[in-house]
Amino acid sequence: MHSKNIREKFLTFFQERGHVIIPSASLVPENDPSVLFNTAGMQPLVPYLLGETHPDGKRLVDIQKCVRTVDIDEIGDNTHLTFFEMMGNWSLGDYWKREAIEWSYELLTSKEVGFGLDPNRLYVTCFEGDTNAPKDEESAEIWKEIFQKNNISGERIYFRPKEKNWWSAGSDGPCGPDTEMFYDLTGKLNSGMTLDEYLKADHEQRVVEIWNDVFMQYLSKDGRVVGELPNKNVDTGSGFERIVAVVQGKQSIFETDLFVPIMEKIYELSESIPEHRQAERVIADHIRTSVFMISDGVTPSNTDRGYILRRLLRRAVRFADSIDLKENGLLEVAKVVQDMYKEIYSNISDEIILNILQDEETRFRKTLAQGLKEFEAGEDPFVLFSSYGFPIELTVELAKEKGKEINVEEFKEKFKKHQETSRVGSEQKFKGGLSGTGEMETKYHTATHLLHQALHDVLGDGVVQRGSNITPERTRFDFSFERKLTDEELKKVEEIVNEKIKEKLPVKKVVMKKDDALKTGAYHFFNGKYGEEVNIYYIGEDLETAYSKEFCGGPHVENIGDLGHFKITKEEASSAGIRRIRAVLE
Ligand code: ALA
Repeated sequence: MHSKNIREKFLTFFQERGHVIIPSASLVPENDPSVLFNTAGMQPLVPYLLGETHPDGKRLVDIQKCVRTVDIDEIGDNTHLTFFEMMGNWSLGDYWKREAIEWSYELLTSKEVGFGLDPNRLYVTCFEGDTNAPKDEESAEIWKEIFQKNNISGERIYFRPKEKNWWSAGSDGPCGPDTEMFYDLTGKLNSGMTLDEYLKADHEQRVVEIWNDVFMQYLSKDGRVVGELPNKNVDTGSGFERIVAVVQGKQSIFETDLFVPIMEKIYELSESIPEHRQAERVIADHIRTSVFMISDGVTPSNTDRGYILRRLLRRAVRFADSIDLKENGLLEVAKVVQDMYKEIYSNISDEIILNILQDEETRFRKTLAQGLKEFEAGEDPFVLFSSYGFPIELTVELAKEKGKEINVEEFKEKFKKHQETSRVGSEQKFKGGLSGTGEMETKYHTATHLLHQALHDVLGDGVVQRGSNITPERTRFDFSFERKLTDEELKKVEEIVNEKIKEKLPVKKVVMKKDDALKTGAYHFFNGKYGEEVNIYYIGEDLETAYSKEFCGGPHVENIGDLGHFKITKEEASSAGIRRIRAVLE
């Protein structure tokens, strides 16, 4: 059964039983600051579980996009993914345990209307009860009847504690006991297993969870039940990729039709040998997740969602290198993902997705090789992060491969200090400063350093930067100076910048202790708050003889020969004693 078929069967099954199909919400939660991404189908529906009326009624069915990155290190095994789709049917104060369980069984096992799984390989668990709620005898009784009616023999129902058979999206909110369905992957388990034998099979992944029916009846606060919800709701969740693997009889998610086209593209782009298996899977998973994240508006950054995306992409780049994936290979992989999902998620085809992927890869590649060298030389993880863009998790992983350990706490301390500093930095940026970091913005950023120095050359050291603002179309630079510049002066500044560009000088960066950095004479904000270590970007072969030096976070072009022709388009007063220049690169 093709995954498309499984998708349709699921939705149709419930539609025929009175459910309205609702579209997946964005991966990015709308009104829920407590989570970065939707991690389960229920998250976007929490207000309705709490009692609000849903416009589409009391019976809903959906396939919700989800991201879970807690298991990121486990990607590469047979079952873990960072992005997945969760199938769910919902009763908002409508049907209850009997219908939910009977339908789960029917859909899983029916050859006509369902997935046709072997009921003799099915096992279920129910909540054993505690001070929050009683033992869920009702669900167990329903299961017993179903198994009896269908002549499915043996012990199949196990009671488990709250850690296993209870569901809530966090410590506060709707929650309740659940009954979970497991499938015997081996087809060889003895149906009379004791609880201990069953637990062993679970532990060894000979059974996998394929569906969860949650009976959301309670409200919790700080992890304890504090009352009942206005309605008794059913929230079911079944991992689409996992069901596809089970239905298609595959040991691994990566062997299903949801991954074969992606894997084949990767095999085409690098040598496919068993030693590459894990890297191939990491690339497939991470690029797939990244494409979905970007399609829902996430862009790489150093905080929150953007950081998770950045981490996935940079990890993918490193794994791509480890198997010598062909140049632009990650983009090729991304295109396959777009192609596979374009009929289901229209925003997945946005062209900007590939641009953002490429930008991030290019940016990381600028510092990757040097960063790896610095890593080998024992460089501090924080410097690897701040100067070479290595997410700490990546450094930890690199170290692990070498049997070394990283002091993550120390990193966090430094990171915190850095954030305080960069908050000041971004306030300065707000006054002027850098905005984006696309290709043209990067060029304008470097051109602004040249302009700054050329103004010094022509007007003297009274020139002090007061702000700058960069767009992909131009740079704008504010500086202290008492009068209007003459045409000659402007022409001279232009000439100097263009001569420098012709010299094709390199742009380089050093990281230094702040006190040492101040001694180099590099330009900086007079009362700017800087951390213990700062970056100096300089234009020229070496720091001492460099044409321009500035404290700066980058990014910059590698060589100013790439900038094109520099032209001042306007010079005017910005405020008393401050002049403003606009310039373009042609
Ligand atoms: N919300 C339940 C889960 O994610 C269905 O397992």
